[in-house]
Amino acid sequence: MTTTAPPSPAAVARKAASGASLDLRRRPRRLRRSAAIRDMVRETRLSPDAFVYPLFVCEGEGVRREVPSMPGVCQLSVDRAVAETSAAARDGVRSVLLFGLPHNEDKDEVGSPADDPDAPVQAAVRAIKQEMPDMLVVTDVCLCEYTSHGHCGIVDGDEIVNDATVERLARTAVSHAEAGADVVAPSDMMDGRVGAIREALDAARFEDVAIMTYAAKYCSAYYGPFRDAADSTPAFGDRRTHQMDPANAEEALREVALDLEEGADIVMVKPALHYLDVIARVKEEFGYPTAAYHVSGEYAMLKAAARNGWLDEERAMREVLTSIVRAGADIVITYYAREASRMLR
Ligand code: PBG
Ligand code: ZN
Repeated sequence: MTTTAPPSPAAVARKAASGASLDLRRRPRRLRRSAAIRDMVRETRLSPDAFVYPLFVCEGEGVRREVPSMPGVCQLSVDRAVAETSAAARDGVRSVLLFGLPHNEDKDEVGSPADDPDAPVQAAVRAIKQEMPDMLVVTDVCLCEYTSHGHCGIVDGDEIVNDATVERLARTAVSHAEAGADVVAPSDMMDGRVGAIREALDAARFEDVAIMTYAAKYCSAYYGPFRDAADSTPAFGDRRTHQMDPANAEEALREVALDLEEGADIVMVKPALHYLDVIARVKEEFGYPTAAYHVSGEYAMLKAAARNGWLDEERAMREVLTSIVRAGADIVITYYAREASRMLR
């Protein structure tokens, strides 16, 4: 056996230049040679139009408390939430998603503050709509921020009772609509809630209020920081009996189909990054406006790495948001909405 020395780089270059064994009629690199041509052939474009900016609204006045696990994200009293929304609007953000943090002593077994017209979400909706009528205001509809036990529904023993919860959710959605919400977003994963909310909204003459449903919401480790922010960690047990198993994709399609049958206008997949396949399939299969939620843990990971100098935050943020849109999301709910809108200006 004879061994031959590998060809020198110069020899390789000579051979390539002669075109001997290369087919170079197609050279994809031609379209990558300058910024102008790269920008021209780009398939996925980010726009602030697609972003929804989540805000945590608490009681009090003049409150702006940063959430330690979510740098840049704060619990805001209504006045500060209005200020943050108008600052975001100046950056190009056109939609906010509101979560409520009532006083702990107001929380109870059935989540009474959820449909209280004077609770933080309802008050913030009124204040934001009054100051910025064009801001699209979306409200999160769930009970976990309002129950003493932190579960998304009414609890009997260790069971989250579906049908009784749905009734509370429908009332909550109507109360958000009464405050002036444009879109309600049920995040609880109870069965039949989209239909019940649609019916309740219509009965109260809110037929123009849209439903953005958390249709395929997975039982994810990546909601950890959110539960600090919203003070909604369950006191016992977990959310496995209502949120989806991360292993399932066909089931996500069934969930989406049900919510659409029940009258959903926009369907959401959550979290985003580990479920890009699900986003793509939902968009492809149904062709409906599709939202993806880049959740608290996904945001926290990037922030932490950036703060350690381990990656370039702006590049990473752009890449992440682009990948979510490339997968098929029309709408991206992200704590980066302000920063990304500023970057895109
Ligand atoms: C409430 C709700 C959660 C999130 C949105 N709505 C938390 C949960 O289900 O435990 C998560 C958002 C995030 O992590 O950014 N049901
Ligand atoms: Zn919940």
